Amino acid sequence: MNKKIRQLLQKINSEKILSKKFYPVWFFTNEKIDKFLSRLPGKENIKKIFGIGGAGDFAFTALSVFENLDEINVCDIRKTANITIDLKIALFEKLTFEEILELFLDLKPVNKKQIYERVKEKISPASKNLFDFIINNCKENNFLLCLKKSGLWYKDSFWQAKHRTTYLPYLTSRTEYQSLKKKLKNINIYDGDFYDNLKLSQNIYYDLIYTSNILDSKFYCKQVDLYLKTIKEKLNKNGILFITTQGPKKMLNLIEEYGFRLFCKELHRFNALASLLGHYSFSFLSFKK
Ligand SMILES: C[S@@+](CC[C@H](N)C(=O)[O-])C[C@H]1O[C@@H](n2cnc3c(N)ncnc32)[C@H](O)[C@@H]1O
Repeated sequence: MNKKIRQLLQKINSEKILSKKFYPVWFFTNEKIDKFLSRLPGKENIKKIFGIGGAGDFAFTALSVFENLDEINVCDIRKTANITIDLKIALFEKLTFEEILELFLDLKPVNKKQIYERVKEKISPASKNLFDFIINNCKENNFLLCLKKSGLWYKDSFWQAKHRTTYLPYLTSRTEYQSLKKKLKNINIYDGDFYDNLKLSQNIYYDLIYTSNILDSKFYCKQVDLYLKTIKEKLNKNGILFITTQGPKKMLNLIEEYGFRLFCKELHRFNALASLLGHYSFSFLSFKK
């Protein structure tokens, strides 16, 4: 059965994506969050999460780290991000650990048609429109090369697979991967803005809400006030707000103004050399209300 991308606000328009009317997205995350999340006190009580979708790796990591997680709802304003998560879920469902490594570490050329045949019944109609186009119009036979050449993802967002021990904990061992496979059904993908989707889930409260690094960007978050008030409203009594940021001091002051208190932090300074190599220095902050 096709996985659903819940399109509460707008229909996903594959034509617009193909004509690059959306920005590129990350294929694999640029955030190294698993150590921080693994150390969160009381993590066994986290059962329901709402978060930004991005490359989907937050959701996959959360399923690895939080052993009692029953439901994780993610949303993204960029339709390509939701479609990426949809494709990755289908690939993880259908491919073995060894096949996934061969594909993403580019250990040997993986035939695009063979792979796509195996996953296409698992993805949503919107994703299928897009991937039918990519696969049929790409001159290469290699699946990974076709994704890279489509220009829909940041080029340097594929290499994180080579650094999987720091970015992708669920790809570090066969056991981790098998365990993720069993929990993929707990992920729900919503299309659209974070605030709109969070607000729409009436009478639902979360144990953790994750905003990635959007609160410090006016481009991503035009109404920081509404976002923070709604997050506070939608968290359970002991719920946690988790953010990644490159400006921890500013974020700490801002979020505390809304009555949250700092719970745990892991700070990373900007490092020019690391940044040249494509490693962002995100800091991690979690808060309780
Ligand atoms: C800053 S990007 C970084 C990618 C991310 N670090 C990851 O690990 O995948 C965060 C993601 O948030 C999405 N986004 C930004 N503002 C949003 C909003 N207001 N509502 C929903 N998604 C948003 C972007 O489309 C992007 O995919």
